[in-house]
Amino acid sequence: MLQETELNAADFVVPLFVIEGKNLSLPIQSMPEITRLSLDYLLKKIETLSKKGIQSICLFPSLENSSRSLEAEEAWNANGLMQKAIFSIKNHFPEMCVMADIALDPYTSHGHDGIVKEGEIVNDETVECLAKMALAQAEAGVDFVAPSDMMDGRVQVIRETLDKNGFSSVGIVAYSAKYASALYGPFREALNVSLQFGDKKTYQLDPANVREALLEAKLDEEEGADILMVKPALFYLDVIAKLRQRTERPIAAYHVSGEYAMVMAAAQQGWLDANKVFAEALLSIKRAGADLIFTYAAERLLM
Ligand code: PBG
Repeated sequence: MLQETELNAADFVVPLFVIEGKNLSLPIQSMPEITRLSLDYLLKKIETLSKKGIQSICLFPSLENSSRSLEAEEAWNANGLMQKAIFSIKNHFPEMCVMADIALDPYTSHGHDGIVKEGEIVNDETVECLAKMALAQAEAGVDFVAPSDMMDGRVQVIRETLDKNGFSSVGIVAYSAKYASALYGPFREALNVSLQFGDKKTYQLDPANVREALLEAKLDEEEGADILMVKPALFYLDVIAKLRQRTERPIAAYHVSGEYAMVMAAAQQGWLDANKVFAEALLSIKRAGADLIFTYAAERLLM
């Protein structure tokens, strides 16, 4: 009766990894129970999730090396894996809210989120690519594009591109405060991406900073973001709570691959009860002020 915060299936966005092929469900070693799925299996998974009350998913492509290049052209190929997956999911489950990741890292041969010139990730050229990518996803039927790249000014250019092309109803979930975190390792295994040089600190946030995160969120909001994201979640609950005080927009938090892997690894040793820890973790993320939680633990909690 006195409980202040409650978790519901509708709070969760389930990240899903899609691969080319048929009848494929490839395990990810560092993410027990999570698999990369070919489209046929992905549709079955979405049916299961939908029956459990999940209203939204977010897609990530795990590509063959042959689809990667320096200029990441595959990202806006109308017949590319991501676009095919979006189209097919919306066709089969029109009521499912489909979000899709916007960033070049699944598509670049060096694994960075942007175009590289002379060893540097170049912001403005990358933003042009991201806008082309958002348009290709909108044409395939996506509900929300989710730019996770952390380039400056990308929300505005994506918004303008979508509007100009008749997609004003496609929303933007901006990864506003995405930290240069050590917790993304298992995700990079899932996508089979390894950075060929450097790190992501020139475009992702310094974990020491909170004012910068609030500024990034404000800029994204002014540029037209519909939902603001903080990522990772548990180490950044203060950021979520502070952002909650400053924006009327919905806030999403990404409970990332490393946050999932830590709990599953301890559970496999018999040291923690995974479901109890996940329930507590996700409740604390919501209590801090998140409206939506991207999490790999959703299906377990809805069992
Ligand atoms: C990259 C991207 C990453 C994640 C989502 N989009 C990894 C990175 O920035 O290296 C991480 C998600 C997770 O760890 O679950 N654009």
